Amino acid sequence: MAPAKSPRPKSAKRPAQTPARRSAVAEPAVAVPLKAEKKTAAVILAAGKGVRLRSPRAKVLHEVAGRPILAYVLDAVAAAGISDIFIVVGHEAEAVRATFSDRPVKWIRQPEQRGTADAVRCCEPALGTWPGEMLVLVGDAPLLRPETIRALVERHQTEKAAVTVVTGVVDDPTGYGRIVRDRRGEIEAIVEEREADADTKKIREINSGCYAFDARACFAALRRVTPSAMNGEYYLTEMVRLALKAKQRVATFTAPEAVEALGINTQADLAEANRLLRKRILDRHLANGVVIHDPSTAYIEDGVQIGAGAVIHPFSVLRRGASVAAGAEVGPFAHLRAGARLAEHAEIGNFVEVKNTEIGPRSKAKHLSYLGDAVIGRDVNIGAGTITANYDGRQKHRTVIEDGASTGSGTVLVAPVKLGRGASTGAGAIVLRRNDVAPGDVVVGVPARSLRSRERSRGQP
Ligand code: UD1
Ligand code: CA
Repeated sequence: MAPAKSPRPKSAKRPAQTPARRSAVAEPAVAVPLKAEKKTAAVILAAGKGVRLRSPRAKVLHEVAGRPILAYVLDAVAAAGISDIFIVVGHEAEAVRATFSDRPVKWIRQPEQRGTADAVRCCEPALGTWPGEMLVLVGDAPLLRPETIRALVERHQTEKAAVTVVTGVVDDPTGYGRIVRDRRGEIEAIVEEREADADTKKIREINSGCYAFDARACFAALRRVTPSAMNGEYYLTEMVRLALKAKQRVATFTAPEAVEALGINTQADLAEANRLLRKRILDRHLANGVVIHDPSTAYIEDGVQIGAGAVIHPFSVLRRGASVAAGAEVGPFAHLRAGARLAEHAEIGNFVEVKNTEIGPRSKAKHLSYLGDAVIGRDVNIGAGTITANYDGRQKHRTVIEDGASTGSGTVLVAPVKLGRGASTGAGAIVLRRNDVAPGDVVVGVPARSLRSRERSRGQP
């Protein structure tokens, strides 16, 4: 029994108490029964090797729009309101776990990759007595949306099904399991491509690889899955046939967007997922009022903040972790990397790379520059070809360029260094490290020297 002091869940309403009871030293231990609500757990299958990608890395760690494939699946599950998440890992398990070490998920190991049914079976010790439904999702389908996951759970519950399968109707079903239906339109089986006859191959409704199961019934049925005669793998898709044989209800839910069912198996699939995710990201920015002149050449990764009214010119690459404030302009041919932060009305133009650098309001770098690890104030003009030399071969160093300063064409600022408020450099100046330029000063030459001190040494006033 829980001790009296144990905190109650915030949402639990306390019963009305008399002042006398409230002041009692030891309130009698009252077990607050947890509401017997059925929770939904999600299992994500991510143990496969991804042989068809021809890459040594775990498939789910390959990136689309700047993030690993698995990150999208995890986000969709979390956004659907599911907090009990189990990820099955095997191939490159340590690398996968390390990449997501900050996520509150439980890891399940599949010692040998013997198929999707075997992968789920590995979850039995953790989920064998789970009271609610258990979703199973493939870790290689990054376009699945949280709305669809929620709709899956709802369909599963209203149909009181033992299994509910998310399907997709696609133009090219090659490679996927096909949904075979009977004359009444009820699902009969899922047939894998490699086991399908010519007629079955024509079916364009495919298995997305995402399902809802009654957890206990699922583990019971998994014991009856026999390996495929073709390749010895245990297919999770067999669960449909087994449920129907046991006279249980099998339901389907067709994903509203066909692309949600896209599973990444090959490099071509990865490129296609990248294109589709990029389109989703662009649509989101356009809906938010960002001006994107040519969406087909704007490469904006997931996790870039852009304010309404900002303008993205063609052929610009904005990587995850960059941010662009309202009214700022980017491109054409600009590259904003992680930590590039453009304030209102800042402008970054052709062949300018910005990394981990703040660009203040109305400041401009319009041509051929590298700005890295810098803090640039407001109303600064960065001349064409200016470089912040931030790396000394061992460490990165910071450059500070204060408000109203300007650099001449071809200036190199060797960090750590500071250009004071309103200071400027002449064309081709190389400002050496720690040779900070005083506010209002003008430096020229190689190495850069103050014009004032030069004039003084020539005996001029
Ligand atoms: C699977 C389905 C297919 C469906 C497709 C949707 C089966 C037999 N087939 O095929 O009907 O149309 O997904 O994308 O389920 N995995 C493990 N352990 C294993 C094998 C796989 O964890 O032993 C994981 C993989 O990492 C992957 C997912 O399960 O994330 C699916 O495996 P994959 O080999 O890609 O299955 P498909 O052939 O695409
Ligand atoms: Ca797949």
